[in-house]
Amino acid sequence: MKQIALTGIKPTGQPHIGNYLGMIKPALELAHDYQALYFIADYHALTTVKNKKELEDLTYQVTATWLALGLNPDDVIFYRQSDIPEVFELSWVLACFTAKGLLNRAHAYKTIVDDNVEAGREEDKGINAGLYTYPVLMAADILLFGTHVVPVGLDQQQHLEITRDVALTFNKNYREVLVVPEAVIRKEVMTITGLDGRKMSKSYNNVIPLFAPSNQVRKQVMRIVTDSKRPEEPKDPDECNVFAIYRHFADVDTVAAKRQLYLDGGLAYGDMKNELNELLETTFSAQREQYNVLMENSDELDKVLERGAEKARDIAVPILAKVRKAVGVTGNR
Ligand code: TRP
Repeated sequence: MKQIALTGIKPTGQPHIGNYLGMIKPALELAHDYQALYFIADYHALTTVKNKKELEDLTYQVTATWLALGLNPDDVIFYRQSDIPEVFELSWVLACFTAKGLLNRAHAYKTIVDDNVEAGREEDKGINAGLYTYPVLMAADILLFGTHVVPVGLDQQQHLEITRDVALTFNKNYREVLVVPEAVIRKEVMTITGLDGRKMSKSYNNVIPLFAPSNQVRKQVMRIVTDSKRPEEPKDPDECNVFAIYRHFADVDTVAAKRQLYLDGGLAYGDMKNELNELLETTFSAQREQYNVLMENSDELDKVLERGAEKARDIAVPILAKVRKAVGVTGNR
């Protein structure tokens, strides 16, 4: 039996090339060696996305993106979190084994508290209890499936530590019921540079979307911030935001030659941007077409996710039964 790799994808924004390099691509590679369970964390998104249409659209966009990029739903168990009622039952059980202090210290929550305090507002202003208990739901996502490894970005490391802590606390009280998972963090691809040189992130508005129409992608590429060095001047490629993205998509030899051109002088940023744009176009145009077809067929997307949920529940139901039995809520001994 293959070990289980599981990860959640929060549908809170249109997928961009930072998501692709930092998460989607490595996750699809990992799926060769593990039984992968990848799911749309729509109930996690509900902590922030409060518009029905927006949550539905984002869920379809994320689903279509992963399928277009090659996720094979016959190999990967691909589902929607909200289709698995067992997650929410386990979430309650785990909440009873989660130290409240651990949640107080969770970064996502604490950052908002700190901002509030700094701005002279009441500590918990604007914070709903879902945001606060977010790590517990995430622990349930993971522990419900006997997950061995969880591929995530560095920003999720603390959540994984909380998950492990909760699982160990639970196991200590009963017996070894839950599998204690390991985080797989790929530091090297974590920070994909955005248009302005900061980490590519929706919240910085510095992303290149994966499947937006070509002219929009082009517009974003042209917005990449560069210095004002003239073409003939030698440049440091490692200081250039265009190169930082380009090097992930061009082949090794081309990247090496380009690096030399930067160092020698003779490279115009405008040409480099055009080249990057073309490279992105050739890399993603077939998948973009596929994406557009899928987006026209949301019934098909629903079907894929529902079939995935059935398979996921086959794994989840017996594990939840074990948990219920361990804590003593079922009649059978
Ligand atoms: N919190 C994760 C994020 O924001 C999404 C997520 C939800 C997740 N449940 C998960 C990731 C379980 C890994 C495992 O990206």
